[in-house]
Amino acid sequence: MNEQSLEKLKHIFPAGTGINKAGNLEIGGFDLSKLVSEYGSPLYIYDEKTIRDSARSFLNGFKSRYDNVHVSYSSKAFTNPELVKILNEENLGIDVVSGGELEVLIRSEFPMKEVNFHGNNKSEHELTKAVNNNIGLITIDSFYELDILDAICKKNNIFQDITLRLSPSVDPHTHELTSTGILDTKFGFSIETGAAKEALDVANSKDNLNLKGIHFHLGSPIFELKPYSEAIDYVFEFIKNNYPKNKKLEIFNVGGGFAVAYTQEDPIVTADQYAETICESVKNNVASLGIDYPKLVIEPGRAIVARSGIAIYTVGGIKNIPDLKTYVSVDGGMADNIRPALYGSTYTAMSVNKAKINHDKLVTIAGKYCETGDKLVENVLLPNPEPKDLIAIPVSGAYNSSMSSNYNVSLRPAILLIAERKIKIIRRRETYDDVLLTSEIREE
Ligand SMILES: Cc1ncc(COP(=O)(O)O)c(C=O)c1O
Repeated sequence: MNEQSLEKLKHIFPAGTGINKAGNLEIGGFDLSKLVSEYGSPLYIYDEKTIRDSARSFLNGFKSRYDNVHVSYSSKAFTNPELVKILNEENLGIDVVSGGELEVLIRSEFPMKEVNFHGNNKSEHELTKAVNNNIGLITIDSFYELDILDAICKKNNIFQDITLRLSPSVDPHTHELTSTGILDTKFGFSIETGAAKEALDVANSKDNLNLKGIHFHLGSPIFELKPYSEAIDYVFEFIKNNYPKNKKLEIFNVGGGFAVAYTQEDPIVTADQYAETICESVKNNVASLGIDYPKLVIEPGRAIVARSGIAIYTVGGIKNIPDLKTYVSVDGGMADNIRPALYGSTYTAMSVNKAKINHDKLVTIAGKYCETGDKLVENVLLPNPEPKDLIAIPVSGAYNSSMSSNYNVSLRPAILLIAERKIKIIRRRETYDDVLLTSEIREE
């Protein structure tokens, strides 16, 4: 067990994290314990600089190796109007997977031409909304969707650009619940079964759909580089033999899945390393096919926002089971972060108010929800935890609040953004009215 200290964990905390004179964790000069006193607990805090730095590392890493690159942020990782504004300023596009994620972009006046709509079961209503808002691209996931989208476009006299999501049967060696490019997946047209070939032919025959290229996404998080190059080679081989001769391959989209370190033990894979492997593989394949360079699209979600966000919790009850374990219960848990319970995801933690004190007491941080599996961090060292202590869990910016729930009729925490020495409340804490007003019973 490695002892935590900010020095050892700096690379997983937001860029401006430090310890102030009072011995408390701070970000960008803001004392986190003061922020909790003001805005309540649990509290999610994002750091704008860290978001911009990550966006730039992907954009620059890929652009420096391949001229025609588009970075499309996968908004399922976290979406919010303020984030959308930042990413627009950083010249990223955005992916959505639902009418709700699309609504965030519409209300934020994000340029719709830079939006790609994913999802394995988009409804007619969602697709109609997308085309009526002049969405740039729709990535098709099923034969049914090819039919309904073509019909919607005909009715609205629209000619819609599309890509097809293929499943290349490549194992990215990540959790089985987050592997999406293997044969046994609900996503995409399988190359292995012949569905992908058939989908190309059907897509090409649709009057109101304009086939622009191919998409695949292997899963997430992917710490290895080889699955990307393997999948790129395999998909280009498929393109060589099957892509319609009357169509140009304009878009080649390799999805997301770029990993981040959650703990001291996790390996670090940089945007440059992903870029090197992916750009080289695409360039080699394009050269050997002798075609024009397509636009290369990547879809990082986690890697853009994970490190920029931290969660802060307040300690309540502490249960010691002699010779076995000490449970430190906090005021959040699986309702604001389902990932440990869902995927066995691992995190680390640091004390906010005892940041300078030795982290030498082995504990398990448990959530407050009524499930045995509601544990946020197992076997982590903290400095003699006591009720009312504050604990920070770093790398909480991706898939925490976007997967959050009202389990046990709990209220979602507030989210702050630290931006150029200012605090912005980018989501206020939920109230019982927010949650309960929808459950009124009406007799009609
Ligand atoms: C199609 C697609 N693209 C991109 C992503 C983003 O993955 P990550 O957040 O790991 O980069 C996902 C995540 O599930 C996805 O399904």
